[in-house]
Amino acid sequence: MPRQLFVTTALPYANGPFHIGHIMEYIQADIWVRFQRLRGAEVQFVCADDAHGAPIMIAAEKAGQTPQQFVAAIAAGRRRYLDGFHIAFDHWHSTDAPENHALAREIYLALRKNELIDVRVVEQFYDPDKGMFLPDRFIKGECPNCGAPDQYGDNCEVCGAVYAPTDLKRPYSALSGATPVLRSSEHFFFRLSDPRCVEFLEAWTQDGRLQPEVANKVREWFKRDEAGQPGLGDWDISREAPYFGIEIPDAPGKYFYVWLDAPVGYLAALKARLDAIGVDFDAYLAQPELEQVHFIGKDIVTFHTLFWPAMLKFSGRKVPDRVHVHGFLTVNDGEKMSKSRGTGLSPLRYLELGLDPQWLRYYLAAKLNGHVEDIDFNAQDFVARVDADLVGKYVNIASRAAGFLHKRFGGRLSGDLGVEGRALLDGLRAQADALAALYEAREFGKAMREVMALADRVNAYVDQHKPWELARQAGLDAALHDVCSVCIEAFRLLTLYLKPVLPALAAQVEAFLRVEPLHWADHQRALGAHAIGEYRHLMQRVDAQRLDALFAAPPAPAAAPGGEPIAAEIGVDEFFKTDLRVARIVGAERVPGSTKLLRLTLDAGEGRHRTVFSGIAAHHAPEQLVGRLTVLVANLAPRKMKFGVSEGMVLAASHADEAAEPGVHLLEPGPGARPGQRVR
Ligand code: MSP
Ligand code: ZN
Repeated sequence: MPRQLFVTTALPYANGPFHIGHIMEYIQADIWVRFQRLRGAEVQFVCADDAHGAPIMIAAEKAGQTPQQFVAAIAAGRRRYLDGFHIAFDHWHSTDAPENHALAREIYLALRKNELIDVRVVEQFYDPDKGMFLPDRFIKGECPNCGAPDQYGDNCEVCGAVYAPTDLKRPYSALSGATPVLRSSEHFFFRLSDPRCVEFLEAWTQDGRLQPEVANKVREWFKRDEAGQPGLGDWDISREAPYFGIEIPDAPGKYFYVWLDAPVGYLAALKARLDAIGVDFDAYLAQPELEQVHFIGKDIVTFHTLFWPAMLKFSGRKVPDRVHVHGFLTVNDGEKMSKSRGTGLSPLRYLELGLDPQWLRYYLAAKLNGHVEDIDFNAQDFVARVDADLVGKYVNIASRAAGFLHKRFGGRLSGDLGVEGRALLDGLRAQADALAALYEAREFGKAMREVMALADRVNAYVDQHKPWELARQAGLDAALHDVCSVCIEAFRLLTLYLKPVLPALAAQVEAFLRVEPLHWADHQRALGAHAIGEYRHLMQRVDAQRLDALFAAPPAPAAAPGGEPIAAEIGVDEFFKTDLRVARIVGAERVPGSTKLLRLTLDAGEGRHRTVFSGIAAHHAPEQLVGRLTVLVANLAPRKMKFGVSEGMVLAASHADEAAEPGVHLLEPGPGARPGQRVR
């Protein structure tokens, strides 16, 4: 009976395209899954978009789309990345799919039946303008500890203090700017503090299934506080409408908090996959030997080691067998992570520039281990590893031997490899179990070093036997034949050992060697007097220019962006002569006798209102402007116009040539800005 594995990676929020951190997680899991398959395991490897939650709902609203349209557009972009980096999920699903709605409700009802759901009244901030309860990250205000302005509702980025949103001074809604009010509503709680849950989780997290550093961290969460209260608090699993999510059974207008239905998405994705291949979901999960393995990053350990196993256990389901936690990827010591240059390393740009995805797979493999350690992508290191290891040590072995075999021996390998050759190959074969153990433990870095050490041995053998000299001397054909055949057999073994990391290259090598797709057990076999195909170039060295392009700022725009050249350079002092302020439009009306002008009444936090005439009437309906924030030039000399005095100017963007590109777009500060704040 083959090993049965159900493997997932964390479900990415459907609020944007993949970044390099996501790709790293998928590559790590993909290598592990490919390794298991090489060993004969049967694997279901699935993932999905994490579609629900307030942030996605709000982002969709901003984009003028329904949340469903918004997440569908994100989902449509996924394939390109996954195929591009050779990440072979069996299925990609969505937490908004019907399977997930059904499973989340089923699990909840089972927990309720088990008396693990409580209803409690919770007081929370409510945005009266938006008519909704505000998630913590949409409440801002002054830090109660250090007084820093514009801090989020859960912690201060200036002094690091952690607090509740209700502790903030002068709180405001980051959505509307309105002052939130406290309102109470009924919330549903998962009673994680129930002794049954605590007992189960203390055992489940400490029985050796988690990495030691993870188990230690989790152990701290069980400790009682000074008051003797259990460490595990109950978990608020409900949110009020409007919310993009799954409605809670028997509770109209209440939705599951996104983190309740997100992990259920693992099961929904599995179900969709099994339905597609005609396998019964319940029977599959009931297999006693089935192993359920989740790959996740270190930031979401609580959800996967407390809430998720408890949800499964007390709804009568199979619990995860292992949670494989990895650290974070940074790029060039974080130096290039700046916003202006993008997020450092754009995976899409990597593909568009034609960089070989297997370089990245190999490089990440060489850096990854089975611990929760951060790793850094370093451009120089990347070039050095790929060029020195993959091309210099590994690919070279084939290119050195294949030419002679073709020209001199019709591509046929020698059946007899000589004593030294056989010893070398036996040495390579002897490492198979050790390498398998490293792959199994996700010690990919050690595995890559081990394989490269084997490649070093092969190259030493070549240097010692000098086939290029054997080829020049008469009567040494048999020796040349043996040496080259040893190289090819060695190359086959190294290819097998690298196959989880370099699947496309391995397929090319299989075609070149004219062998069936390699399985792990094939390390025990030998090619014998087999005829191989013609060698074609397998992998290039890293093209440093293209790598530079990957990190360069995006190309400069055309000579006259927006229809006009950039104005003459000024110093910062000159810029600061212009006093720009955030202003709220408290009134807007058409100006009788003018088709162009609107009369705006603005509040720039001065305790009085200003009148400003603005030439935006053709593009903005006055009734849609009222309430919005914009940017005012506050120190412009008042100007007497035909219709009255204009006390400043509001800022709008447009093309120099209205006919070439119509539209005038009033500037609007990001959420959270307040009237009177200076723009700098
Ligand atoms: N939607 C949740 C997960 C729900 S799982 C039921 C989420 N999404 S995420 O998009 O923010 O992150 C997805 C995965 O990417 C997580 O495992 C996270 O740790 C990982 N990474 C995010 N940034 C990362 C790096 N810079 N490096 C490596 N992995 C990182 O959390
Ligand atoms: Zn602070």
